[in-house]
Amino acid sequence: MTVPITTRNANRNAPTDPLWYKDAIIYQVHVKAFRDANGDGYGDFQGLTEKLDYIANLGVTALWLLPFYPSPLKDDGYDIQLYEAIHPTYGNIEDFREFLEAAHARGLKVITELVINHTSDQHPWFQRARSAPKGSPERDWYVWSDDPKKYSGTRIIFTDTEKSNWSWDPVAEQFYWHRFFSHQPDLNFDNPAVLEAVINVMRFWLKMGVDGLRLDAIPYLIERDGTNCENLPETHVVLKKMRAALDAEFTNRLFLAEANQWPPDVIPYFGNSDECHMAFHFPLMPRMYMALRREDRTPIVEIMQRTPPIPADCQWAIFLRNHDELTLEMVTDEERDYMYNEYATDPRMRINVGIRRRLAPLLDKGRRQIELMNALLMSMPGTPIVYYGDELGMGDNYYLGDRNGVRTPMQWTDGKNAGFSEADSAALYSPVIVDPPYGFQGINVAAQERVKTSLLRWMRRLVGVRKEHRAFGRGTFEPIQAGNKRVLVFMRRFQGETLLCVNNLSRYAQFVELDLAEFHGCVPVDLWSNQPFPQIGELPYLLTMGPHGFYWFRLVSAEEAPPAAGTPDPGARKKS
Ligand code: GLC
Repeated sequence: MTVPITTRNANRNAPTDPLWYKDAIIYQVHVKAFRDANGDGYGDFQGLTEKLDYIANLGVTALWLLPFYPSPLKDDGYDIQLYEAIHPTYGNIEDFREFLEAAHARGLKVITELVINHTSDQHPWFQRARSAPKGSPERDWYVWSDDPKKYSGTRIIFTDTEKSNWSWDPVAEQFYWHRFFSHQPDLNFDNPAVLEAVINVMRFWLKMGVDGLRLDAIPYLIERDGTNCENLPETHVVLKKMRAALDAEFTNRLFLAEANQWPPDVIPYFGNSDECHMAFHFPLMPRMYMALRREDRTPIVEIMQRTPPIPADCQWAIFLRNHDELTLEMVTDEERDYMYNEYATDPRMRINVGIRRRLAPLLDKGRRQIELMNALLMSMPGTPIVYYGDELGMGDNYYLGDRNGVRTPMQWTDGKNAGFSEADSAALYSPVIVDPPYGFQGINVAAQERVKTSLLRWMRRLVGVRKEHRAFGRGTFEPIQAGNKRVLVFMRRFQGETLLCVNNLSRYAQFVELDLAEFHGCVPVDLWSNQPFPQIGELPYLLTMGPHGFYWFRLVSAEEAPPAAGTPDPGARKKS
């Protein structure tokens, strides 16, 4: 089912809508993991460019690339050694430019990483700072102290590896501050020279043509005594300055905030539409898994009730999985225990405060569950992000260290190294997944292209249906508290279009009765088949649902409703 790219993203030459990110569907990919064009065992930009048709054919409209800058790769590239260059293993600036052009030619936007909370300790700024005299302007680019008890109210994020947010530097003869690994010193945003340098990095990539920047770990930019050093007002001042620089010089670009916080603490990252355009909805994600396993919509409904409204031009980014552990920071202790017991029975599946597994293994490869979760991803309010490989139901390998088990090579074919690389298997940056039921011999793109019922082909259809209705990206979110709590029901409304989404979280058949009095006389039309359902009348609207089933309807007037398929055609009957 190879569809020409011109028809899939037909409006590629249309002028960009400044709110393009509201209608976007994002595919998250690591250059390293996608396709190795030069046979050295690591994916590269040439390989990614080769595979852009695959990505465009998925129907997604944007790519989010994990860090690809020079780096010792001790934190998979989030430890940046140079901001304005490409890691030589992935190619060079020319390769990046070609990739960007090829992505844009297919109507795909490109979002890259702006990791500014910290650098690698190998960054020249840090090397200069540590050997500069104490108190000098050069030293002042990072956060130093003689007292490792300073800011003691600050939590540790990488609990499995770090004991303190301070580490001793024998060259500087001071402690330096780091919210993540000890090889990632935090930049000092109280120093205006740092902000200026960071804005210059931002300019560099935006001038190159990237469409958006994910702002990594931004709640932690500023530290203050007596606080938890997260979400401080001064951090918001920094972001407003960055946004002002963005707006002054560029159009139609975006900031995506990585702020793993509770909704009321994330909202300020949108500012008055003068900070970030988008922010991840971290607390929603684990609650989708909770609701599924508990067969109870309550966790989803409650977190949405606790989510304040956001400015009209802002947007949530929602996701099921990503390159990190499935974070359990934004749940209660009880909920965390529940998640660990249900989804990470083997302690090796756990890391830091989360679970290092992919979507398909989390759901025990249950096709219905995978479809339902993806349907939720595509219909809940926000812009959905699909993590590479999850469209195939790829597995993970939690025997690999850190979070590497969810970062294994993309599985293209059942050939050598899953079609990812021509290198010797031993030379690959990571082993491919080999064991059943997730081994590349069975789970790969080529195999799924051959079977009409494959997950890949279903995902394309899902993305396609979503894209036909702007209410998914831009509409209201109106939960309907139907009697049966195993069924999650909500409406999405935008400019005269009303969508009704009904999701059976249970593994058993269910029925639900909906109060649709407001729509008396209307007809629900299934978005997938264009099949009209019975007209909405006086009585509560009854729907029966198969295990883990879901419906997406648009509600239209009786006149607008298409004819029902399968009902006898009166004309045909007369003739016979
Ligand atoms: C972000 C990234 C994560 C990284 C961390 C430190 O949370 O998503 O992968 O380890 O920042 O840079």
